[in-house]
Amino acid sequence: MIKSKKEYLKEYELSISNPEKFWSNYAKNFQWISPFNKVLNWNFDEPKVEWFINGKLNITENIFERNLSKIRDKTAILWEPNDSDAEAKKITYNQLFSQVCQFSNALKKKNIRKGDRVIIYMPMVPEAVVAMLSCARIGAIHSVVFAGFSANSLSDRINDSRAKVIITSDGNFRGNKIIPVKKIVDEAIKKTNSIETVIVLNRTNMDVSMKKDRDYWYHDTVENESTESKAEIMDSEDSLFILYTSGSTGSPKGVVHTCGGYMIYSQYTFENIFQNKNDEIYWCTADIGWITGHSYIVYGPLLSGATTLMFEGVPTYPDPSRFWKIVDKHKVNQFYTAPTAIRALQSFGDNYFKNSSLDTLKVIGSVGEPINLEAWNWYNSNIGKDKCPLVDTWWQTETGGIMISPIPGVIEPKPTYATLPLPGIQPILLDNNGNEIKENEVEGNLCIKYPWPSILRTTYGDHERCKKTYFSTFKGYYFTGDGAKRDKEGNYRILGRVDDVINVSGHRIGTAEVENAINENPSVIESAVVGYPHKIKGQGIFAFIIIDKNQYNQNYKDEIRNTVSDYIGPIAKPDEILIVPGLPKTRSGKIMRRILRKIASNDFENFGDTSTLLNPDIVKEIIESKK
Ligand code: WTA
Repeated sequence: MIKSKKEYLKEYELSISNPEKFWSNYAKNFQWISPFNKVLNWNFDEPKVEWFINGKLNITENIFERNLSKIRDKTAILWEPNDSDAEAKKITYNQLFSQVCQFSNALKKKNIRKGDRVIIYMPMVPEAVVAMLSCARIGAIHSVVFAGFSANSLSDRINDSRAKVIITSDGNFRGNKIIPVKKIVDEAIKKTNSIETVIVLNRTNMDVSMKKDRDYWYHDTVENESTESKAEIMDSEDSLFILYTSGSTGSPKGVVHTCGGYMIYSQYTFENIFQNKNDEIYWCTADIGWITGHSYIVYGPLLSGATTLMFEGVPTYPDPSRFWKIVDKHKVNQFYTAPTAIRALQSFGDNYFKNSSLDTLKVIGSVGEPINLEAWNWYNSNIGKDKCPLVDTWWQTETGGIMISPIPGVIEPKPTYATLPLPGIQPILLDNNGNEIKENEVEGNLCIKYPWPSILRTTYGDHERCKKTYFSTFKGYYFTGDGAKRDKEGNYRILGRVDDVINVSGHRIGTAEVENAINENPSVIESAVVGYPHKIKGQGIFAFIIIDKNQYNQNYKDEIRNTVSDYIGPIAKPDEILIVPGLPKTRSGKIMRRILRKIASNDFENFGDTSTLLNPDIVKEIIESKK
């Protein structure tokens, strides 16, 4: 654990001057079945990155066997159910280990082997963590799909990964709703042909249909299974998981992370950013369907032997004091959430946190989108009581772990800045021509010039796409898709996406995906979608549509929203829909989104050079429709 600025500077210096030495030193903390014989092979052209070469390990041995003698009876998962009157559950490391072994054995009986893909589509329950770790134990590759995604999104992910199994639940308690999860799975499977087995956790006791010889109850599969299971021997570079995420073009891509590098980086960053010690309670409010849930609910904390709190419900149920009540109830010491949750809770007023003492908190964190100054100040003073360092952590699904962030007691927070890179991370800013901007007090495209252990290795089944998306815009660098500003002291402030990705409530949504969904609606001829500033969500989705007058009906807005919800999920529903006579296109047919972005934000001036537009007059017409 880094304890002072001096130590940080020393570690940072070594991590840059001799990255291999730096990371191989840290790798000594882990249990290797056989040691690696080379630390790093890389080039960003193919791209190809390999860490801890020929090392053999199993990440679950590093969670359990490595630490168990010290933390056998320590709570691993502290689970707070949706219903605030229901009892919380504590699962010790030893109990979790037994459950993981039992479920690993159950998966093997269902013919799941190393390298097979397993979809996990589950609510925020401990069994979801058991499912992830059981896959890791036997070398199967998990792909967790956020349970808010629609059947259609789920079937796309099943098909792309050619998964054999889905682990799911009957239903999902979310606030005062019960979501019929298994029904969505049944719907999704209809459009796929690789699924052999569905394992269903009984969470809500709701009626579900169970197909013979395909669907099995979770509790039946683990009954009578042994609580011991030998860990599969994994190479450092074997895949650990796939996580689908949206980009500028096409359908979501499966970001692939591997066993060795991901293990090392998730523990390293968890330890340093959250400084969780002894019996302190750590809570990250993300969903396991996102990378934040993977790295900072499951792998980082559990590798570090921490107690990780897992919350099934939503921040506003039974009322908007729920988060703060949980903090007091479980004496939470480190709390990690998203700006959108902060802004939403702030909007309900002071009464909801006033009756909570929040005095156990030591570190508060933010992730997923730029945090605006107002939200930063509110969070810092009302929740952190001006005494907890606020760590604004910048990173991505593709980076696997936190890249730029304050470190409590080491690197001072600066409002709205993610501040400085962690050891091992070499960010640079490039101008649009790909030249490095060396000075400070500048803005540019944020790139990383050297590999770190948990950089993505590929996009599943399509390496070319990985190369094109991340390693081609600026040759020789990993391109993040974000713009950033660097201040006098070298602190980074993330300005948001510079590509066609919209960040809605911290969820990445590709404009092309939403447009494809909207275009499924029979009354729509063409559409263009952009992000615009939204008070709570950070960015909202604005859809400009050209409508087929013969098909027009006045409920078109609801219909389009429903189409998007069915196609992607409720999170991608457009906030605003505007009928326009045409779209601003270049002669090559490309939509000029920067114009639409300005119009969506009610900024009707200074459109820059519009001479390349096929029909420059359209801009005025769209503005008229907007006004
Ligand atoms: C944005 C989430 C500003 C950014 C871990 C990035 C942030 C995208 C921050 C990745 C932050 C994440 N400040 N922006 N602290 N953290 N982002 O893959 O645009 O869901 O590229 O990973 O979220 O989103 P993802």
